[in-house]
Amino acid sequence: MAENRKIAVLAERASGETRVAATPETVKKLIGLGAVVAVERGAGLSASIADEDYRTAGADVGEADAITAGADIVLGVQGPDPALLGTVAPGAWVVAGLDPFGQGAGGGRARVEAYAAAGLEALAMEFMPRITRAQSMDILSSQSNLAGYKAVIMAADTYGRAFPMMMTAAGTISAAKCFVMGVGVAGLQAIATARRLGAQVSATDVRSATKEQILSLGAKPIFVENVAGIEGEGSGGYATEMSEEYQRAQGQLVSAHIAKQDIVITTALIPGRPAPRLISDAQIASMKPGSVIFDLAAPQGGNVEGTVADQVVEKHGVKIIGLSNTPAHLPADASALFARNLFNFLSAFWDKVAGGPVLDEEIGNAIRLTQGGRIVHARLQG
Ligand code: NAI
Repeated sequence: MAENRKIAVLAERASGETRVAATPETVKKLIGLGAVVAVERGAGLSASIADEDYRTAGADVGEADAITAGADIVLGVQGPDPALLGTVAPGAWVVAGLDPFGQGAGGGRARVEAYAAAGLEALAMEFMPRITRAQSMDILSSQSNLAGYKAVIMAADTYGRAFPMMMTAAGTISAAKCFVMGVGVAGLQAIATARRLGAQVSATDVRSATKEQILSLGAKPIFVENVAGIEGEGSGGYATEMSEEYQRAQGQLVSAHIAKQDIVITTALIPGRPAPRLISDAQIASMKPGSVIFDLAAPQGGNVEGTVADQVVEKHGVKIIGLSNTPAHLPADASALFARNLFNFLSAFWDKVAGGPVLDEEIGNAIRLTQGGRIVHARLQG
């Protein structure tokens, strides 16, 4: 009989990070698989989870060095500081969003190199392939969905008018016009949220498959008609960089549409590339004063000219909001979903005979960054 695996859950240390990688619910389930779980003191506080709740679920709660000592698996929302992992078991797994392209001291790339040097096996949860069986393990989806919701709520709060049409004795207020650019997971939730608040919603994407989804949510699709976009699901559901011809046509379409909008939510991303620029300063100048843009692509450089992460920038009377970590503004729900993603991942591969998780090739090759003292992922070579 294999010994019980030890799973450690560290408190997040990055500035502005409020989430935690395990909740009492997932602690209980991990123990149910046969693991022992140790949680750092105070790890859940910013997500409204008390140490006592982890204890009640069966976890040991203690200081970082005690909880990581001998750990076989370390869970994080972001990659933990390698300096905290000195006494983990040889070859232990580090399972988190590892941001492996993050540059600079303390950036994801430097951390991944340190994990490799320490002989750890680093698993980047944001590299989870977009296949049906991995949907419940996908941190990008679970967090983007909440970010799409929060973007609309924060834009509505910043907007000096109401979203729904209101007919009052003092006169009528017209509904806000909201335009969503990029209709992936975040964009779909943004459309649904803006609709629930009573806005008139339109949306655009480069993937033609999203047209149906926009219509089914009761919004109006705004699409480039004269140049082909991406048909079908594209590569694994992701967009690629568009041709110059497409970008020009899209620019004209946006110019014509955006001047009439009150709220714009941008969510467009291209994996491994800077976010595409969708809104220029001249287009912002064409909008009505008091309009609000929420740029969800801010952490990847932004879709909007002039976005500054974690600031509200006012240009031509239009407020532009961008956050470096939008899901962290919903810490309790974001943690609950993130923690379930990690549990779903570990439990899907839990091997009763081995007494711990054993990855298959398809998912292992997609997410494993380091192994045996080396960086092994194809996207990180060179
Ligand atoms: P994403 O976060 O990479 O991009 C957001 C959206 O921006 C995408 O819809 C993309 O087409 C759009 N976009 C990119 N460049 C653009 C441009 N120049 N102009 C306008 N829009 C642009 O994508 P996300 O949200 O992660 O998901 C994309 C697709 O993948 C969805 O269809 C989703 O259902 C699918 N998916 C499948 C999963 C699975 O099967 N396990 C998991 C997650 C997503």
